[in-house]
Amino acid sequence: MNRIAMGARLMIVSDLDHTMVDHHDAENMSLLRFNALWESNYRHDSLLVFSTGRSPTLYKQLRKEKPMLTPDITIMSVGTEITYGNSMVPDDGWVEVLNQKWDRNIVTDETSKFSELTLQAETEQRPHKVSFYVDRTKAQTVMKELSECLEKRGLDIKIIYSGGMDLDILPQGAGKGQALAYLLKKFKAEGKPPSNTLVCGDSGNDAELFSIPEVYGVMVSNAQEELLQWHAENAKGNPNIIHAKERCAAGIIEAIGHFNLGPNASPRDVADFIECKLENVNPGHEVVRFYLFYERWRRGEIDNCEAYIASLKASCDPTAVFAFPSGVERTLHECIHRLRGCHGDQKGKQFRVWVDSVLSTPTGTSTWQVKFDKWELSGDERYSCVTTIILNAKGSSASDGYTWVNVQQKWLEGFEKKDDSTWFF
Ligand code: GLC
Ligand code: MG
Repeated sequence: MNRIAMGARLMIVSDLDHTMVDHHDAENMSLLRFNALWESNYRHDSLLVFSTGRSPTLYKQLRKEKPMLTPDITIMSVGTEITYGNSMVPDDGWVEVLNQKWDRNIVTDETSKFSELTLQAETEQRPHKVSFYVDRTKAQTVMKELSECLEKRGLDIKIIYSGGMDLDILPQGAGKGQALAYLLKKFKAEGKPPSNTLVCGDSGNDAELFSIPEVYGVMVSNAQEELLQWHAENAKGNPNIIHAKERCAAGIIEAIGHFNLGPNASPRDVADFIECKLENVNPGHEVVRFYLFYERWRRGEIDNCEAYIASLKASCDPTAVFAFPSGVERTLHECIHRLRGCHGDQKGKQFRVWVDSVLSTPTGTSTWQVKFDKWELSGDERYSCVTTIILNAKGSSASDGYTWVNVQQKWLEGFEKKDDSTWFF
């Protein structure tokens, strides 16, 4: 919770399907580019908020399918459920707000009279959200009649149409925009509002996000007609909202650059990452850069060259030890030496590596403990290790770089590899 009340440099509030996650990109390249940018430059002082229409069940499913980062705050079920941190602690205050003038039974009772409405899956019916499918051609009429019925029954509700097929009924005070307004109000009351907020979306249920005052907004290039139309009617002259040229997460990166919200070059876009820019040096960047090197090395995308091995060795204390998840220990120099044997072994295969939740704490005047989850996707298998490393600053300035003095890994439950003899880092 501490990180959340810190006064973020940048808070990104992003929709997931077709915004953060591109379902037409099997390689997930734009998402992986965003991840590397976020972990190397923003994780330590900024907030990542996912705001999705999905219920907790479908949200967790998506996280298993796609290489997604862990957000600081998760807003699910179209702004009706807010949770904090990896353990997803619910915001009970928000539930109180939503209970006003809401009675789920009345909603189900009235909607049952509409034959045009098809109930969505059971998982998507939530305490403050009742969801249906409705044909595009009938949506407007149904919405009008439905809101009249429910108003007559004393409810104050909101109906949202998205993706040309989904119809959600929520309490009037709910929705993605209202949930964001609630969070911003909370941060302001604590005296720690984010310096900048960027909202990102593609469809109807995201429209509200763009009407929150003082936020920057990006409609990704692949945004749905319903959102573009909402924008044309309600926010056309607002210079703080753009329709990106790029799809999904690449559009988010584009917006960071467009609005000058901070660094916008993903380490994945840097061909020779051994050469790093001075302004980017921080423990997070060190970790992202190393694992990107490791991915490219095994994919055979960089030359099998002794200069890389030498440069890696130079970044490690000669006595530094790596404790593998199985408990086996080797010196880091031995581990680097082993890398020679796996150059290009993943060529032409599906092999990706990313890091999540990279957070560092100083443990002395020039030492840091850096903790993160290291993920490896190999074909259909996914492995993950909770990784802790100790870094020493090489010189008095951060730009002098770091020396690795210790690495320890433990399997993340559910993502163990049976045998770690083929596990390198
Ligand atoms: C997600 C939810 C669905 C909702 C839709 C639009 O797909 O699973 O219930 O109707 O978003 O908000
Ligand atoms: Mg979407």
